[in-house]
Amino acid sequence: MATATATVQEARREARQFDLFLPLRSSGALENPFAVYALLRTVRPVMRMPIEGWDGPGVWFLTRHEDVSAVLRDPRFSVDRLRAPLIRDNLDRLPAFIQQTAQGLRSMLTMDPPDHTRVRKLVNKAFTPRRIAGLRGHVQRIVDELLEPVMHRKRMDVIDAIAAPLPAIVIAELLGVPPEDHRKFKEWASEVVAGVGRANPTEARESSLPAAQRLFGYLAEIVAARRREPRDDLISAMVLAQEEHDALTDAELLATSNLILIAGHETTTNLIGNGLLALLREPDELARLRREPSLLPTAIEELLRFDGPVQATLRVTTEDVVLDGHELEEGSLVLVGIGAANHDPAVFTEPERLDVERDPNPHVAFGFGAHFCLGAQLARLEGEIALRALIERFPNMELEDEAPAYRSNPVLRGLVSLPVRF
Ligand code: HEM
Repeated sequence: MATATATVQEARREARQFDLFLPLRSSGALENPFAVYALLRTVRPVMRMPIEGWDGPGVWFLTRHEDVSAVLRDPRFSVDRLRAPLIRDNLDRLPAFIQQTAQGLRSMLTMDPPDHTRVRKLVNKAFTPRRIAGLRGHVQRIVDELLEPVMHRKRMDVIDAIAAPLPAIVIAELLGVPPEDHRKFKEWASEVVAGVGRANPTEARESSLPAAQRLFGYLAEIVAARRREPRDDLISAMVLAQEEHDALTDAELLATSNLILIAGHETTTNLIGNGLLALLREPDELARLRREPSLLPTAIEELLRFDGPVQATLRVTTEDVVLDGHELEEGSLVLVGIGAANHDPAVFTEPERLDVERDPNPHVAFGFGAHFCLGAQLARLEGEIALRALIERFPNMELEDEAPAYRSNPVLRGLVSLPVRF
């Protein structure tokens, strides 16, 4: 027992030493990272953060909208994390979600051109705007079913009741998981996603590996079944997608299905959770939205900007690059501050003010350039239907806890729970 405790403590110490996000964990930063971003943007917008226990140059953190959007579309910055010695040489000491994006099944998220261009083009043939628009009725039905049992209560945890289950069910239906398997699919998916969110590598690996194996096995069965007999679902459409006699391989199909599941799950949960929290804290904006529901589309963009689900992403320099007078040598790891860019006063007037009518709103919550979020339209659809239902059906909704806790992951930003009364 004593040895096990010592091992856990050791793992924690190591994980902390290799914390790529240290500034984002400084006091108060989890509750309000925007104050930290603002300070860094003023003092040192391109900042090198040394990593304790690593002799190399550390991580570069970008907080200006101008630099963030430029880097995200600059081919000298690769998405292949393993090109950075800091990642490559220390994989087992890094947070679980970095490990998984770095070494997991190679998906489009970690591919550069020409591989990325090829896979994304084929997936785009299946993941069409028409297919997503066709999900509107399904999403509405799922929202109605989830809210039905809580309508007669006086309180609920919004994360538990709707924000967490909604994306899981939508993705299951989208991929073509038959209804009788939804429950087990959701359980495995939640375990895998929870593992991605855990900061400690050992803990994350132990808790989510069996679920990940079952999920992969299950997805592989669906891929094989749809190859034999296609249906009207996304996996079948991806099986059939062709481009100049080229098609996705089984490994690519599996990696893409897995990516869609992970990328579209907690992010959407956090859009609904962070978004509703922001509205409940600004009663005037909420009242405006209740009076004019036609503002929902601009409100969703503003909520994505104001407290977005993805606060940062990583890139690696493929050659020596000069940025704002700093020399980033080849193989440098760059933490691209999406949330920081979205609060840059050079682009957004009064960035700390929530304005449900803000327009234009050139936020980068879904990224920018070649890797712009594949699921943006679906996330907007789910966010809009869920928030509309919550606002309309619970006109007296109030926060039970004025300061609900955020999860400890500073990159995928979201609440542990959101208790409300009505
Ligand atoms: C509010 C919810 C969401 C947010 C804020 C979000 C954010 C992002 C961001 C910032 C990226 C770019 C990452 C980078 O450049 O390194 C991205 C990529 C991606 N997202 Fe989303 N996402 C959301 C929902 C979804 C959903 C619902 C799906 C799928 C159903 C999805 C699938 C993807 C995929 C496949 C990529 C990789 C695209 C590529 O590499 O070409 N996302 N997302």
